[in-house]
Amino acid sequence: MVELVAGDITAERVDAIVNAANSSLLGGGGVDGAIHRKGGPEILAACRALRAGHLGKGLRAGQAVATTAGRLPAKWVVHTVGPVWSATEDRSATLRDCYTNSLAVAAGLGARSVSFPLLSSGVYRWPKDDAVAQALVALRDLPPGVDLVRLVLFDQETLEIAERVRAATN
Ligand code: APR
Repeated sequence: MVELVAGDITAERVDAIVNAANSSLLGGGGVDGAIHRKGGPEILAACRALRAGHLGKGLRAGQAVATTAGRLPAKWVVHTVGPVWSATEDRSATLRDCYTNSLAVAAGLGARSVSFPLLSSGVYRWPKDDAVAQALVALRDLPPGVDLVRLVLFDQETLEIAERVRAATN
């Protein structure tokens, strides 16, 4: 069962936290900014190495890749690129891919606990209620070995939206 909590994902004491990155992997605002600011330069250095290596063109929306978590309590950061909200194109499958691919990358590293932010629901303007609905569908089945998954909402209001969406879907 996915845990719904309000908090700051950089403080999560889990094996892996997921970053709401952009395709450049070179940082940004929101979750991305917080993770790089608090995690320290090691994370960006690892992202740069990925860009110099097999991710020369950056990360496509829906894909996920892991780096060190630097100074953060977590062991790894799994960077994923959410789709930007579109009123005319249904990109929800790509949003669900972010969760399932991030889980697969984390499980592949041996992570047993993973915390997610509400992907695409900030700068990428995805409506929060549907962002939660997509996350809950994608996080219904966990890969073997992952026994704790948390959705970390940034404020009480968003947590209440998430709890309402979960109650309505159960
Ligand atoms: N902890 C948990 N949640 C957070 C935090 C935090 N420290 N900071 C922001 N959030 C919440 C936002 O309120 C929003 O609900 O995370 C959700 C995702 O918001 P963004 O970080 O803006 O991510 P996203 O909408 O996926 O946009 C990604 O923004 O920061 C840039 O480089 C990033 O270009 C990329 C884009």
